[in-house]
Amino acid sequence: MVLLFINAGRKYSKINKNIYGHFSEHLGRGIYNGLYVGENSPIANTRGIRNDVVEALRHIQVPVLRWPGGCFAEYYNWKDGVGTDRKRMVNAGWGGVVEDNSFGTHEFLDLCEQLGASAYIAANVGSGTPREVSEWVEYMTFSGESPMANWRRENGRDQPWKVEFMGIGNENWACGGHMSPEYYADVYKRFETFVRNYDSNKIFRVACGADGNDYKWTETLMRLAGKRMNGLSLHYYTMPAYYETEPYPWERKGPAVGFDEASYYRTLRRALYMDELIRRHKFVMDQYDPECQVSIILDEWGTWHEAEPETNPAFLFQQNTMRDAIVAAVSLNIFNTHSDRVHMANLAQMVNVLQSVILTEGEEMILTPTYHVFDLFKGHQDSTLIESYVQQDLTGTEEAQVPALHVSASERADGKIHITVVNLSVDEPQQTQLLLSGKTFSTAEARYISGDMNSHNPFGQPPQVEIQTMLPIVIKDNSLFIDLPACCVAEIILD
Ligand code: AHR
Repeated sequence: MVLLFINAGRKYSKINKNIYGHFSEHLGRGIYNGLYVGENSPIANTRGIRNDVVEALRHIQVPVLRWPGGCFAEYYNWKDGVGTDRKRMVNAGWGGVVEDNSFGTHEFLDLCEQLGASAYIAANVGSGTPREVSEWVEYMTFSGESPMANWRRENGRDQPWKVEFMGIGNENWACGGHMSPEYYADVYKRFETFVRNYDSNKIFRVACGADGNDYKWTETLMRLAGKRMNGLSLHYYTMPAYYETEPYPWERKGPAVGFDEASYYRTLRRALYMDELIRRHKFVMDQYDPECQVSIILDEWGTWHEAEPETNPAFLFQQNTMRDAIVAAVSLNIFNTHSDRVHMANLAQMVNVLQSVILTEGEEMILTPTYHVFDLFKGHQDSTLIESYVQQDLTGTEEAQVPALHVSASERADGKIHITVVNLSVDEPQQTQLLLSGKTFSTAEARYISGDMNSHNPFGQPPQVEIQTMLPIVIKDNSLFIDLPACCVAEIILD
């Protein structure tokens, strides 16, 4: 029997809803086909944006969406994507395909409005200019008379939009210009100066942060520019490598489906490494910013497997299994537990690219196991982190040991306790006793997904992974007994 302790009497930080954010780039079929099909498509749409996809995304309460990249952002000129005369360009980073710019600023901000999500724009720093960024902000957010605001009106939008977040560059240590942290700190300050707050729109400025465990980057940015930023990003992708200390193990990517148990546990081990990464970056940031004024913005995270056979490898299209669901769940638990400093995270990427919540093929749409994790976790949005602890053994292989269970818990505004618990074991169910202190409860509801580690939702076939309800739950003396199936993500709500 595993013991799971939840203490509602110990309250910590607010779990910012933006931890449940997403990212979508002009890459492969992420935007075109996935989100946007154009007004003349036979697929049901509103001003070109797929209705089925919007409806599914509204259900998981997408709080914020990052766009247009990624590396694409670093050669994007926003002026090519507004008005009636849109430039056709080459998407040089992602397969050399034609980008016709039919999805641009108006379409992105329309999508955000349809989703009820905040906009997070990634500005071009690598090949763009401060003037371009400054004019983009003026175009989107200024209500008065100005060349850019007038141009927006000519293009059909009278009122300005609300733009809450702006990233000043993307991966400027690599595809965003191969800069040193010292050089980028100066570039950041130069660009940031021209990101103006018009009217009541206040833009939260995010500086480009580290690649995984590059703590020197974080230290340099905090020291040289920490006072001029609201957030510092962090990028980390999960791939099945052997040791946590290795640099990015590109050569060790394996198939998204049809992997073995060793690869499963190595992948989970890599996902759990996120905790150490955040701890260490926090430690560095604390030296310069003990008051937590600068947020960690984990604006790219998720699994990165080999592209599906017979698809364009540059399109990064991968299936999504229970393994991805477990990675998502432990990552979100980790973000919750670091919500004092982690204030946003954006899964890469929302539709049809890398670890997606939705996959499409023509008019068909699939909700992936990762989608269901976001559904099971949505109750944490804007709730208060409370203490949780699991008394248990490790599981896994000799090479990659992982905890059997992984948990986070929060108290919602309505007073309900929301617990998300993951059984990482591929084959061992866990008989679990959950003990709540600091509050009494009389009802419990639980929903979960589980399956074989390779279970997924294939096109043209019934789904293998769907949310199920756990019944009945035995409650006794402010505790409950629950059997968690192997390879499972569950949500438990106590009231
Ligand atoms: O998400 C795919 C790519 O990964 C992004 O364009 C880039 O920022 C990162 O390296």
